[in-house]
Amino acid sequence: MKKVQQHYDEVADIYDDRYDGHRGKYYHGHISDHVMRELPKGGYLLDLGCGTGLFVQRYVAEGGRAVGLDISPRMVQHGRQRCPECEFCVGTADILPFRDSTFDALASLLAFSYIPNPEGMLREAYRVLKPGGRIAVCTLSRTVFTSIVPVIYHIGEMVGLKKVGVGDFNEHYYTNAEIESLFREAGFEDLSVSRCSFAHLNLADPVFNLARKVEPIIEEKLPYLAYNVCAAGKKPED
Ligand SMILES: C[S@@+](CC[C@H](N)C(=O)[O-])C[C@H]1O[C@@H](n2cnc3c(N)ncnc32)[C@H](O)[C@@H]1O
Repeated sequence: MKKVQQHYDEVADIYDDRYDGHRGKYYHGHISDHVMRELPKGGYLLDLGCGTGLFVQRYVAEGGRAVGLDISPRMVQHGRQRCPECEFCVGTADILPFRDSTFDALASLLAFSYIPNPEGMLREAYRVLKPGGRIAVCTLSRTVFTSIVPVIYHIGEMVGLKKVGVGDFNEHYYTNAEIESLFREAGFEDLSVSRCSFAHLNLADPVFNLARKVEPIIEEKLPYLAYNVCAAGKKPED
């Protein structure tokens, strides 16, 4: 975990550049739309692996209150600047410094693949959610495309490439069945698991525009080609 933290501390100053251009904005916005539609609006949200606060900012702009937690102090520092009306804390997603039944909503975007103890994170998520509260996690899934990502990242680390996410971090990319079973074992009900994202921000414009056009078809008809998985559920009412 130390290595992931150091990496995100190092890239924190350039992290937002990734999502500033039109492709980055679209890519992150699309993931964020998927997560948002699974959560209650206007509630109290905890975002695990919140990074520079992109999602907490959106949740608050849509009428809620939010806390972001991240293992990287530098990412959290950027979050505080981006969203002074949100609360932030530095910590690991599998040991949460909050009382039982605190939050209405729990989100995690593009961070779950890093968590070495996903059962622990979901156990804690369950604990801090109120009965009836909802969780939505969007993370890289295991597909034909993502199976080569660790090799590319390994080479990137060897040649000293300083790019967001590039390095050997023992990331785990989930199948729908794996993430669904983790959610079920943690006690969540009313589960939904779907795939999202085909237009990746690293594609060149003409290819990106084409990928964006076919994205809804991919997500609906050929979901195994979409490379993020979104899992959502509810903590049972008392
Ligand atoms: C790709 S970034 C995503 C950030 C943000 N959720 C977003 O959508 O822009 C992954 C984030 O997960 C954080 N992270 C990784 N492992 C973590 C852990 N065990 N606990 C909390 N945060 C973690 C990293 O520090 C980083 O900020």
